[in-house]
Amino acid sequence: MKRNFSSVCFMIILAIFSFGLFAQNNIQENADGSVTINNVDFEEKAVSYKQKADGFQNVTVIAGKNVKKIFPVSVSLKDYSNKMISVKFSCDIKVHDTKKGENEITWMINDIKANMPVVSRKKIKSDEWTKMEGEITLQLGENKSFYITSFGLDVKELTFYIKNFKLNIIGDGIGKMATKSENWLEVKSLKEAYKPYFDYFGLAVEYDNEFSKSEVQKGVKYHADYITMGNDFKPDFIFNWQKPSTMKDFVAENGKKYKVPDNMPNYRKMPEILEAAKKNGLKLRGHVLVWHSQTPEWFFKKNYNEKADFVSSDEMNARMEWYIKTVLQYVNDWEKNNNNNERIVKVWDVVNEACSDNATETKWLREDSNWYRIYQSDEFIVNAFRYANKYAPKEVELVYNDYNSYIGSSSTTTGKNSAIIKVIDAIQKAPNARIDAVGMQTHVKIDFPSVTGADSFETAVKRFVDKGLNVQITEMDVANGENAYSPIMLRQKYNEYFKMFIKNRKTSSKKGIEGITFWGLLDEKTWLNYLQQYKGKTQYPLLFNGNYICKPAFYGVLEAAENK
Ligand code: GLA
Repeated sequence: MKRNFSSVCFMIILAIFSFGLFAQNNIQENADGSVTINNVDFEEKAVSYKQKADGFQNVTVIAGKNVKKIFPVSVSLKDYSNKMISVKFSCDIKVHDTKKGENEITWMINDIKANMPVVSRKKIKSDEWTKMEGEITLQLGENKSFYITSFGLDVKELTFYIKNFKLNIIGDGIGKMATKSENWLEVKSLKEAYKPYFDYFGLAVEYDNEFSKSEVQKGVKYHADYITMGNDFKPDFIFNWQKPSTMKDFVAENGKKYKVPDNMPNYRKMPEILEAAKKNGLKLRGHVLVWHSQTPEWFFKKNYNEKADFVSSDEMNARMEWYIKTVLQYVNDWEKNNNNNERIVKVWDVVNEACSDNATETKWLREDSNWYRIYQSDEFIVNAFRYANKYAPKEVELVYNDYNSYIGSSSTTTGKNSAIIKVIDAIQKAPNARIDAVGMQTHVKIDFPSVTGADSFETAVKRFVDKGLNVQITEMDVANGENAYSPIMLRQKYNEYFKMFIKNRKTSSKKGIEGITFWGLLDEKTWLNYLQQYKGKTQYPLLFNGNYICKPAFYGVLEAAENK
């Protein structure tokens, strides 16, 4: 038949138009970064004869007659090659068999390395609509497909009717929404979502190459009220790795004079950071004054010589008091001169990680610490809280911060949780010492600890609250640990944690969790991947990756605030 020019043009336009519709209907990008493939037109995949059955809308019918391929119904997963994905599948299926009354139908992924995972398998009666569904998480290989297996089926005798086909795929960096538009500035703000529950929402940042950049400041201030400097407020950084050159006298509380550095600390980037926080309307958690790590060796030694012996505890008291006083006064002066005497640094981690990982009833302090080597007791911890109380404004919160603070929370004698309780008791007993909150670092693993229940994170929170203290979640990240990373599991875990945090929050009538801080912004920069224990096992613990793209985990956190 001869066609005229205009009818050919019309057909081309129609083809372009229907292709557009087809593309839109088939792959749907969801707000959570997932992708849904629905109502697939299997025709192009199946080398089969296809007819649209009368009376059914959106039903794909694949008749067995003329089927040459062994996989007549399949969806390519090529776009998700080599990604960790979670697949959620459902459809209604009807099978007409010219010979049998029942068939076992299996939907699976043809990935040999992943052991040919079955997503859904069911025995279904011929000529009856049956719902099939299933979920699976896997590290997908290259160019795989999702399909009905031909195993045990004589496809030539079958006609498949499929409707409401839905394959939801979720994973980091898949889908246009997740890779292009779900940037951290284009989603709901975490700090706004959490305003009804907590005093603040926090993010830990590095200054160099991160928070010093205005585009990072923009995102941080959009999602957070507070920041913690990952490193810049630690003694090594404040001293700027320089040894003191000149000394002055400092009169300690015992009335004696001790030599302390004259020209130190030089505060390195502190003023710049305070200025940047102020400019962006952010507050700071000061992290950290007294810690065994990232503190110069010479600080603990006679004549500030790292090769010499340790000083006495009296002399160390003087040095500690001088350090705490000097740093706190520097911040106070800065706030007075530059911020109308309003606080920028609202909290200090006064002591970090002084408890033992293997605490027993009689030995509960960390011993591989220069502080412990000098004092051989908890005296330095108590003194740190006395000095901090002496020099910090009353409204600045003083915190004891530690990791694994939930371990052994069901025991009242052993384990880290009990060790921290003992430290709290000592501080609370000492005259003129003040502690306001426990910082629970919360570097947790996806499978440890349990979030709620008997010996759990929640039990630990409750034990600290029973001491009359508030709790701050100070360094949260969730490692996949030895497990393969699953974006879905991470999302669920964060959701579970945040629901528990909300339940245990501080209110006007009871102590509880005051605020939460994430330890870092991007997976690519997480400290966890520098740990020897995770060599060869990449960790993906945070809420953002790449160019500040929201991971599924982000939505798990956000939805907990929306009670979802
Ligand atoms: C501990 C410290 C933090 C930081 C992390 C690792 O949790 O408290 O300051 O050093 O380790 O990044």
